[in-house]
Amino acid sequence: MSLLRRKSVEQSIRDTEQPEHQLRKVLSGLDLTVFGIGVIIGTGIFVLTGVAANQTAGPAVALSFVVAGIACALAALCYAEFASTVPVAGSAYTYSYAALGELVAWIIGWDLILEFILAGATVAVGWSQYLAVLLETLGVSLPAAITGGDGSAFNLPATLIVLILTAVLVAGIKVSSRVNAVVVAIKVAVVLLVIIAGLFFLKRDNYTPFVPPAEPAAGGSGAEATLMEAIFGQAPANFGISGIFAAAALVFFAFIGFDIVATAAEETRVPQRDVPRGILGSLAVCTALYVAVSLVVVGMQNYADLDTEAPLAAAFQAVDQPLFANLITVGALAGLTTVVMILMLGQSRVAFAMSRDGLLPRWLSRVHPRYGTPHRITIIIGLLVAALAGFIPLEELAELVNIGTLFAFVLVAAAVILLRRRRPDLPRGFRVPWGPVIPVLAIVACVVLMAFLTVETWLRFLAWMALGFVVYFLYSRRHSRLATGGGEGPAMPGPEGDLDTGFGSASPPPHRDS
Ligand code: ALA
Repeated sequence: MSLLRRKSVEQSIRDTEQPEHQLRKVLSGLDLTVFGIGVIIGTGIFVLTGVAANQTAGPAVALSFVVAGIACALAALCYAEFASTVPVAGSAYTYSYAALGELVAWIIGWDLILEFILAGATVAVGWSQYLAVLLETLGVSLPAAITGGDGSAFNLPATLIVLILTAVLVAGIKVSSRVNAVVVAIKVAVVLLVIIAGLFFLKRDNYTPFVPPAEPAAGGSGAEATLMEAIFGQAPANFGISGIFAAAALVFFAFIGFDIVATAAEETRVPQRDVPRGILGSLAVCTALYVAVSLVVVGMQNYADLDTEAPLAAAFQAVDQPLFANLITVGALAGLTTVVMILMLGQSRVAFAMSRDGLLPRWLSRVHPRYGTPHRITIIIGLLVAALAGFIPLEELAELVNIGTLFAFVLVAAAVILLRRRRPDLPRGFRVPWGPVIPVLAIVACVVLMAFLTVETWLRFLAWMALGFVVYFLYSRRHSRLATGGGEGPAMPGPEGDLDTGFGSASPPPHRDS
């Protein structure tokens, strides 16, 4: 059964051990935590908090963050076990290749492409919304048609930032660990500023009702119902208890990124110990910050008045604190820029792992003769992200990212259970406690969140996956190295042409066709 052929864990690890392509193992648990926070805090908290509170959950959005955080913590434990057992770049894709076979690995890889490319676009759109606020403060207003807001045809700023960052990645310009640490510090400082300064502007009235009663969604058609509503034959509704879960399925986006920490396992000094620390540490910090920020913001302004484009800055404008609003805007812009960049790098990572295994064409990962960077894959990704950011509204993008990511989490949790059965002998630096209980709970939690996404999102997701099957059966299955019996492929990443993001060589490997 070639569909079930598996790449052994040993082979995955061997692939990383060719001396000329070995990664520097330089990262510590703290480095990984900082890296994680750098990717995790982004559009989710800076934008979606407002959208979710205003349209779906009201002040109870804080509970939505708790719900999404719990689902992520369960999945994160599974990621931690996997990353400490198979410390190889490529994340969920690589794990499932070892545990569940090639077809599932392909499905996950294809799914991760969706996650990273769309997430990059989503964060770029969030960036453009904060840019609009900044420009407004400076007295500049862009023509409405090109700002991506209501009624506009195209989001020029989001497209431009993606193209600029693509050029930066192609040129291999290094973002030093220091710059990255500074940006993370600014971002966390801005979030703390919101929490602490916001405390002085809370109004008790804004918290009642904490869970606004359910009301029919205005103009909601069948496809805009959540899958849950469709299954139970209910009309689309907002708020109420189910609104908390629907908002959780949306703000889940804010947590995405801890899974990217696992992709740095190959560059970590003691992955068995440090990867679980990095994943769980960054997730814990972000969950605490998110719950606090959302509680404060809905206390500053009535949920019905919350802005849905740049809500954190707008909340301070609303209480006549333009200085704070400006600080938040500038911090958000700096912070969101690095998130877009790291998401695009993460995508090239996964594409490289797939191309190394022959599931995607090898020419994709050929390096630029001068810059030493994988320019082709970077440019293709950049153009896709730019196009999506230019034309699709933020919420629709975010929901699609979420469904893809939740699906990957389900497969990773299942893979943890299966790999324990198949390879009980493998050394595991970190084991999820209580046997299969936590992986099973992770699967249930993620499936529940998926069920609170709209039918429209499900249909788009299924269409993308169907396309993936076509590509697999027409191309990847026959070109797979496991099928062709190809020798050792190019290893990830090589010492030349590193894009040093400050986390070891967080770039994909240059690969030279031999
Ligand atoms: N979690 C990241 C964000 O919220 C992707 O922007």
